[in-house]
Amino acid sequence: MELQYGRIWIGGVSAQELAERYGTPLYVYDETRIRKNYGRVRDAFERRYRPFRLFYAIKACSNPAIARILRQEGAGIDAASVNEILLARRIGAEGEDVIFTGNYLSDEDLREGWKTGAIFNLDDASTLPRLLRIGTPPIISFRINPGYGRSNVGDYVTNAGPDAKFGVHPDQVEGAYRAARDAGIRRFGVHMMPGSCVTDAEYFPYVLELLMDIAGPVARKLGIEYEFIDLGGGLGIPYRPGEPALDLERTAESVVAQFRGKTKHYGLRPPTLKAELGRILVGDAGWIIGRVHSLKRGYRSIIGTDIGMNVLARPALYGAYHHVYVDGKEEATRAKWGLCGQICENTDFWIRERELPASIEVGDLVVVENAGAYGFVMSYPYNGRLRPAEVLVRDGDSWLIRERETFEDTIRGVRIPDHLRV
Ligand code: LLP
Repeated sequence: MELQYGRIWIGGVSAQELAERYGTPLYVYDETRIRKNYGRVRDAFERRYRPFRLFYAIKACSNPAIARILRQEGAGIDAASVNEILLARRIGAEGEDVIFTGNYLSDEDLREGWKTGAIFNLDDASTLPRLLRIGTPPIISFRINPGYGRSNVGDYVTNAGPDAKFGVHPDQVEGAYRAARDAGIRRFGVHMMPGSCVTDAEYFPYVLELLMDIAGPVARKLGIEYEFIDLGGGLGIPYRPGEPALDLERTAESVVAQFRGKTKHYGLRPPTLKAELGRILVGDAGWIIGRVHSLKRGYRSIIGTDIGMNVLARPALYGAYHHVYVDGKEEATRAKWGLCGQICENTDFWIRERELPASIEVGDLVVVENAGAYGFVMSYPYNGRLRPAEVLVRDGDSWLIRERETFEDTIRGVRIPDHLRV
């Protein structure tokens, strides 16, 4: 995003043009930024360790056009469900290019997942016998909960540690791999997901150490080798202006040093180092353009926009901060405003008070930053407010990559029993 004479441009297209052409609220993604983000992460690790492989956590932004960009760059796909595996197939990722990290899977999930040939990464030791009833996979991975987890999104997005619902307890790891080995599985991986949105470079080598000290001794004891060790995701981005970004070079440096040290210490045949990232690849490459529809000056001064909790759930759900720009007014004097959407809930009042342009008017465009990850995917049509359209921009061009939801879309599949017909 750039400001030119106060006007907002994304990927060489003005916010004004995008709003006029596609309407609001609108998700906009910058292709060039996504490719750059991918390249930056890949290079930081690959320069220090090979084989290194990046997977895209497609849950972060599941639009196939976006996933396709990352696929073109060489990413595999991390899928949370069978439907995400099917999505991966649509963009040309299949078999072991897909890792299936579900949790609390049903037998149907296991059966359908099995058919796809994706690598199963099991969240609990008890899932293995259920999977083995379907078949013996050539490779298996377990998601280990190393006992510690962190997140910059409060406690809400902590995916590891004693309070998380995820992962195999350290005491059960040996039993899990032993059962897999005894069932005839010969290829193994190790996985963790240590939290989400962490911008402290020292955190990642720390949790990796915990993981390696669990997985290393198990490999030695059972006489198995790990084909890959997957760091999971969690590399964060700054959401607030002035907040320091994750030092990627330092993260890669210290993670790789830890990884080399521990593989050597435990005498492991050097495994592929994997990471499966969402936010750091697409988070800062997405924006939401919305319009101001009314201004209220009552108990508080409130800007009413079409970007509500239905369009961007993160503030209402996690108290998350998203920066907001006002097109053409960024230079203006500031005043204290609240900002909300159009949903009949007060959690929709997602900015209670912030310094925003005093001269904001009905009809102005607001642009929400860092909406590329966990943005559209978490939108929903509550109150009959429909899901936004999605647009891709690159070097002054724009493409519609998802049509705006229609009323008909929201009632598709609905049935009214005969006795309720008039
Ligand atoms: N791998 C697994 C198994 C995951 O569960 C996740 C995210 C990722 C990778 C990617 O994590 P990332 O690199 O994006 O941190 N909705 C929340 C974030 C939830 C994260 C869920 N798992 C938010 O809006 O902050």
